[in-house]
Amino acid sequence: MRIEWDKEQAEKDGYAHYMLKEIHEQPRALRNTMTGRIDEAQKKVIFPTLQLTPESVQKLEKIYIVACGTAYHAGVIGKQVIERLAHIPVEVDVASEFRYRQPLFQKNTLTIVVSQSGETADTLAALREAKRNGSAVLAITNVVGSSIAREADDVITTNAGPEIAVASTKAYTSQLIGFYLLGLYLAQGKETVDQQARAEVLSALQELPDQVEAILAHADGIRQYAESIKEENQLFFLGRGLDYAVSMEGSLKLKEISYIHSEAYAAGELKHGTLALIEEGTRVIALSTQADLYEKMVSNITEVKARGAVVLGIALANNMELHRSVDEVCLIPVTNELLTPVLSVIPLQLIAYYTSVALGHDVDRPRNLAKSVTVE
Ligand code: AGP
Repeated sequence: MRIEWDKEQAEKDGYAHYMLKEIHEQPRALRNTMTGRIDEAQKKVIFPTLQLTPESVQKLEKIYIVACGTAYHAGVIGKQVIERLAHIPVEVDVASEFRYRQPLFQKNTLTIVVSQSGETADTLAALREAKRNGSAVLAITNVVGSSIAREADDVITTNAGPEIAVASTKAYTSQLIGFYLLGLYLAQGKETVDQQARAEVLSALQELPDQVEAILAHADGIRQYAESIKEENQLFFLGRGLDYAVSMEGSLKLKEISYIHSEAYAAGELKHGTLALIEEGTRVIALSTQADLYEKMVSNITEVKARGAVVLGIALANNMELHRSVDEVCLIPVTNELLTPVLSVIPLQLIAYYTSVALGHDVDRPRNLAKSVTVE
């Protein structure tokens, strides 16, 4: 008896949706993005095809990161990674704003454009604006031979494989890996990180795929949480520092496939206005993975709890006390704090996915959206 697989189902490897398949492909995508780029003997990052030599890195004085949507959210993390590792000032812009705000270009500026598809019109236009102003352009993209890859001076590919679902997942975490590798590469050129510190970050990077696997193995608890929020009409994401940047991505994922409104807030900003929106039963997801900001995050959680919020906390597995301050807690494996975004975003991707499924939406092709926005 021949088992008839329809073509699309076969391409989904048996997963219910491309998005779920791509969420589960992330361990392989991260490994593929690191392959060939780590010199184990010297504990160094290598980009064999990059024109950006260590000598030209030494001269770098300013970096712009420009992208749209999820790629922009990766850039917000890329800024913090590059500044912390290589001490080069970085500005991040949404491409559709960058190209019209007449950005100032000084000498020795590098513009990094990030794009899964490599065809996003606003990002391509921003690339051209940067080149017109004499800036070198480096693209981080998932599609070799794309327009952005062809027009950039340099390309770092995120080897995540084809991403079909409109909601980007494996491309985002692969873009983060791209930024960690680039941040270390720039730090090597600037000599701002010693070999031991580099080795520690590289070792933690190489553990991430297995740690993502571990989170995915416990997706059922996250599915249950998602089903508990499906009737909500709004949801808050809170975070500070890198956790705030990941909250932006978690909020976009939920909005674009479940159609539930949500917003990411810098937790320290609540008292400047948005706390007024919190009322009895308001659902909040609070990310608190950063040790130096943890106490302040707990006080922000206490603020919203006092106004009736119902809070899911996301923290590292060595955190033995957050459960006292929240209604539910989701623990993720312990890693170098700079790398936590690769892990903390996984529960948020799954929450968005399972909420959309519970609502019966077309997860892979959400209303009004296209996979690549090739028009302005
Ligand atoms: C991601 O989930 C969205 N579908 C969207 O924001 C996307 O990230 C954005 O359009 C940028 O696309 P690109 O990475 O292909 O340039």
